[in-house]
Amino acid sequence: MSAPRLTLPRTNIRVLLLEGVHERAVELFHEAGYTNVRHEPGALTGAELHDALAGVHLVGLRSRTMIDDPALAAAARLIAAGCFCIGTNQVALDEAALRGVPVFNAPHSNTRSVAELVIGLAVMLFRDVFRKSNAAHAGDWQKSAEGAHELRGRTLGIVGYGHIGSQVSVLAESLGMRVVFHDIRPVLALGNARPRPSLRSVLVSSDLVTLHVPDTPLTRGLIGAPELAAMKPGAYLVNASRGSVVDGEALAAALRSGHVGGAAVDVFAREPKQPDEEFVNPLRGIPNAILTPHVGGSTQEAQEAIAVDVASKLIAYSETGATTAAVNFPQLNLEAHGDCHRVLHIHRNEPGVLAQINEVLSAHDANILGQHLQTQGSVGYVVTDVDEIDAAEALPTLRAIEGTLRARVLY
Ligand code: NAI
Repeated sequence: MSAPRLTLPRTNIRVLLLEGVHERAVELFHEAGYTNVRHEPGALTGAELHDALAGVHLVGLRSRTMIDDPALAAAARLIAAGCFCIGTNQVALDEAALRGVPVFNAPHSNTRSVAELVIGLAVMLFRDVFRKSNAAHAGDWQKSAEGAHELRGRTLGIVGYGHIGSQVSVLAESLGMRVVFHDIRPVLALGNARPRPSLRSVLVSSDLVTLHVPDTPLTRGLIGAPELAAMKPGAYLVNASRGSVVDGEALAAALRSGHVGGAAVDVFAREPKQPDEEFVNPLRGIPNAILTPHVGGSTQEAQEAIAVDVASKLIAYSETGATTAAVNFPQLNLEAHGDCHRVLHIHRNEPGVLAQINEVLSAHDANILGQHLQTQGSVGYVVTDVDEIDAAEALPTLRAIEGTLRARVLY
């Protein structure tokens, strides 16, 4: 099957990639026929950003480019935006949706990187490596097996058995650990991992507890003084999820008392926004606390996986109209449309729009082969496959429908 014709030829579709997103994204656009790609190494701000966005159809960014409403207004041709990262707070999501712009991200491309770091930190904790390393740096030779253990045969407790938790489970079992876990959803246990009915039952039975829950009202302060007290004396804690999940002061106290034998923490309630901002945290200076600057997912492999994930979503949207996994937009999982023509219509979610779209299609003698409708909040998205339509004639009438935000035809 040949690739569809778009409303614009691919070579006229302008792609702007900011903040040095991984080169693989550029390659994917080129391979798909999108040769008009500008790849900027840094973030742009203010007038420079607005100028760069003028005439751009697809934009890719990371966390430092603010796509606020004025930036969206400057990007009058924009059809979609891709955040080459997990967070999407840097984009005005509702405003983007109201301009007919779906926003994509890559929530799980760094799963393996986080899971590997957690296993590494577990080894470091069980062998007290950081304290011994710091002592060696200071000229102090602490050669002792006292308190040092293998992971093999120990019980790992996983809280949150989603993408990362379940990967940690597989890696830990391959090292001979016993795995128990707690999740609020019924999830499939991998390997020999055993679900536990409550957080507490994981805490009381684990030699190391690792947290892999999202930041939600339910998980804020999930691990406080009572939960730390419920852990086995001398057990370890790893938090590479979100800083809000653990009460930092309570953990500092539990580490000082020795009830928690050691902790490895990658995420904090307050994290510096700029490299020159001081990192302030109650765990600083506590010898049995390993602190890493939110690098769980930061690997070259993850950057490449993110590039593939987000670039593929942007290309799929351009080619088929699929909005699968868009964070701000009605989701339609669409395959390529083959030999028919596809009409994409994005509008304010108001009664009567669908009927008017169909009236226009009928007036242009387009025979409807299939139709998909999805709404989310204030936005509606209708995709209609028709046998044939003259886009040059039909698009102005489709765009004239009251409430229309955007319309496109794929041949
Ligand atoms: P996910 O959404 O795949 O899995 C989260 C799991 O936690 C789900 O199965 C959910 O049902 C469960 N859950 C939610 N509330 C719970 C509760 N109160 N008790 C028990 N289980 C609960 O998420 P994923 O991708 O595994 O990420 C987990 C965490 O890791 C997130 O907080 C994410 O922000 C963080 N993360 C940290 C990174 C780092 O650099 N340190 C990088 C990537 C993700």
